[in-house]
This record gives sequence, C-alpha cells and structure tokens, in this order.
Amino acid sequence: MKFIVTEDYEAMSRTAARVISGYVSSHPDCVLGLATGSTPIGLYRCLVEDYEAGALSFKDVTSFNLDEYRGLDPQHDQSYRYFMEHNLFSHVDIDPARTHVPDGACPDAAAACAAYEQSIAEAGGLGLQLLGLGHNGHIGFNEPAPEFPKETHCVELTESTINANSRLFDSIDDVPREAYTMGIGTIMAAKEILVVANGSDKADIVRRAFFGPVTPEVPASILQFHPNVTVVVDKEAAALCQ
Ligand code: F6R
Repeated sequence: MKFIVTEDYEAMSRTAARVISGYVSSHPDCVLGLATGSTPIGLYRCLVEDYEAGALSFKDVTSFNLDEYRGLDPQHDQSYRYFMEHNLFSHVDIDPARTHVPDGACPDAAAACAAYEQSIAEAGGLGLQLLGLGHNGHIGFNEPAPEFPKETHCVELTESTINANSRLFDSIDDVPREAYTMGIGTIMAAKEILVVANGSDKADIVRRAFFGPVTPEVPASILQFHPNVTVVVDKEAAALCQ
C-alpha cells in the first residue's frame, strides 16, 4: 500500500487526480471505477482542468460508479448519476454511452444488481477504482457487517450514513433508505485502487482502516489485502496514523 499524506485538501485533490490522469494516459481505453461524495469533488475539478488544458482525454474511457440510491430517478439532483454529470461527465469528452451508474430507478433489485455486475464483466473488469471513505469505514455502500458482501447488491443504509447524507436533502425523511452498491468482491477485483480522505473527522477511520485489524466491521480494512492500493489523505486525516 502506498500511503501519501498531503498538506491540505487541494494538494490531496491534485495528487489523486495525477494518479487518475496518469492511469488514463497510459491506458486510454481503461475502465475507471468512480465515486461520489464530498471528498472527490476537488479531484474531479482537477481532472476537468487537465482536460481543458488538453492534457487528458476520456474519449475511450469506460466508467462504472460504485453506487446509487434505490428509488431515485437519474434526473433527481441528489442522485449519483446527477452528481457525476454535474462534477465530471458533462465537462469532459467521455462518451455518455460508456458511463455507468447502477439503475436506481429499477425497482427489481436483483435484476438491477445482476445487470450491473454483468456490464462490469463485459467491459473486462475494473481497471482503476476510486474510493472515498465513510466515517464507519464503509466503501461504496458496503456498511460494517458480519461478513464482506461479494457482488453488486441492494443495501439498507445505516443510521450513520443516513445522517451523514441528510445534509444534502431538504429533510432527513427524504434521504433514501436503500442503495445499490458494488460489493467488496467487485471492488477488490479492480486492478488498482485509489482511496481519498480528508479532514480531522476522518482521522480515526483512516487509522482503523489502514493500520488496524482487517475485519468486515471496518469494510475498508480489506483494502490492506489488495496488491495495488494508493491512499491519498491530507495531514488532518492522517493525524492519528503515526
Ligand atoms: C460514494 C460512496 C461513499 C463515499 C463515502 C465518503 O459513491 O460510495 O462510500 O465515498 O460515504 O463520502 P464523503 O466523501 O462525502 O465523505
């Protein structure tokens, strides 16, 4: 595991963007796994800047997002599809037909999840997967549990995740209670993994995830077993690691 500590959020974003742009430049037709949330917004801004400067193209890239709320239409402004359009896809030359987000509007959970898993396999599997880190160690929507879920599946969100996400909705009652998410097995099958985290509120979970015991009670801890992981955190998030 490569563990990189940066001065602040801006430097974390730039450093992580460099990992992604380096990967895309050397594998122009790669499969990128993408994440939503607050943490990668700066990183996506850096990628858009690189694209606008002519230093990066996504024209042959295929993307798969980690997760999507179940029951939200892709046009809903809190859907993860909307987030991706707004923060990345509409600003770069990625082919919209090659961008994938689980279909939150599909009511048949088993069909939606199986179709997603099959699309990833048909694309040749994930190349570089980007991950944020939940306060309870979740990655995607894989919450602490007695075992690691393997494939894309439907989850009930925990109170902690519903509370954390409620800042983005008018009221906590509007936050969806379920989501479709890649499984830990789906994520671990990626060739490379890039994790980003910032801020003092992530310090405890960064320590537990990357320097504590590997346990499904801290889902991100499984990443310690992946052969090609880069973690980029700002110094506040790294504060409890030394
Ligand atoms: C987002 C996702 C989540 C977030 C995590 C951290 O697609 O899968 O696991 O990465 O909740 O979110 P932020 O970055 O908002 O702290």
